[in-house]
Amino acid sequence: ASGTQRNDDWEADDSSPVIQVLEKIRAEVAGLSGGRVADYIPELAHADPGLFGVAAVSAHGRSYCVGDADYAFTLQSISKPFVYAIAVEQLGLDVVHEHVGAEPSGEPFNAISLDERGRPENPMINAGAIVTTSLVENSEPGKRFERIRSVLSEFAGRELEVDEDVYRSETETGHRNRALGYLSLAGGVLVGSVEDAVQDYFRQCALSVTVRDLAVMAATLAVGGVNPVTGEQVVSQRTARHTLSIMSSCGMYDRAGEWGLRVGIPAKSGVSGGILAAAPGAFGVGVFSPPLDDAGNSVRGVAALERLSDDYDLHML
Ligand code: DON
Repeated sequence: ASGTQRNDDWEADDSSPVIQVLEKIRAEVAGLSGGRVADYIPELAHADPGLFGVAAVSAHGRSYCVGDADYAFTLQSISKPFVYAIAVEQLGLDVVHEHVGAEPSGEPFNAISLDERGRPENPMINAGAIVTTSLVENSEPGKRFERIRSVLSEFAGRELEVDEDVYRSETETGHRNRALGYLSLAGGVLVGSVEDAVQDYFRQCALSVTVRDLAVMAATLAVGGVNPVTGEQVVSQRTARHTLSIMSSCGMYDRAGEWGLRVGIPAKSGVSGGILAAAPGAFGVGVFSPPLDDAGNSVRGVAALERLSDDYDLHML
């Protein structure tokens, strides 16, 4: 991402009608109660449930931010579509899908969800995402994470860094993910060592972002792989399209069907409370609010995106 230049002048002010819509949505969802902050990764349990931020970035790189837009949280599962994009860009769709399926599993994100060959069914849940990470530059594990970090930084238009406390907390407790890795190794689809793959997976999940970053990352997918703020082509148009397709079918876990119905644009959530959504050709959105529903999706984040999708008639699914 070196040499990239942000278009910060392109930040809209309060007079913008888009900001007014985002403010209205923030006020509407502020009163929603319910949901619980994730605590199975101990470090995430400290999150302030009252935080709320939303950002949108247009296809031209103009940004609209409301609420706690500069508050940093970890990507968690939102890293999955981007690492999937790297694997598809490197290896092509067919090779990637020899190792991992392309079906919504309809199961929770941490499910033991493997087909009869021992291949994870869905690249957006943990089992499939760990395999996807193992496919990236598999010969040199040390360099693999650097590659992931650098491409995700290009998507965001700035250098992303690992939150070491969250990383440490997950590596100390993430034994279910190790087990999923071993099942995929036994199925012959995880490449290299399980521990190397989960370490890089935990690091990608611990990359620290803001909703503004999420919106730029989403907008990059929405406009065919070119970051609209920096102008950099991060992945090919074809890879961006494949990534949006997999997000729309598999992105919201056991809520993928309901998401299609209520929001209707490709999206990905993470357990720290972020949701990234991409309206193809139009804009990228990031939302953050830590309390989660029982599927692991941010309660206020889902509600905000439902309203945004209705207000701007974004439904495409
Ligand atoms: O592997 C895990 O459990 C976490 N690092 C990521 C899970 C996640 O974000 C699921 N999303 N809602």
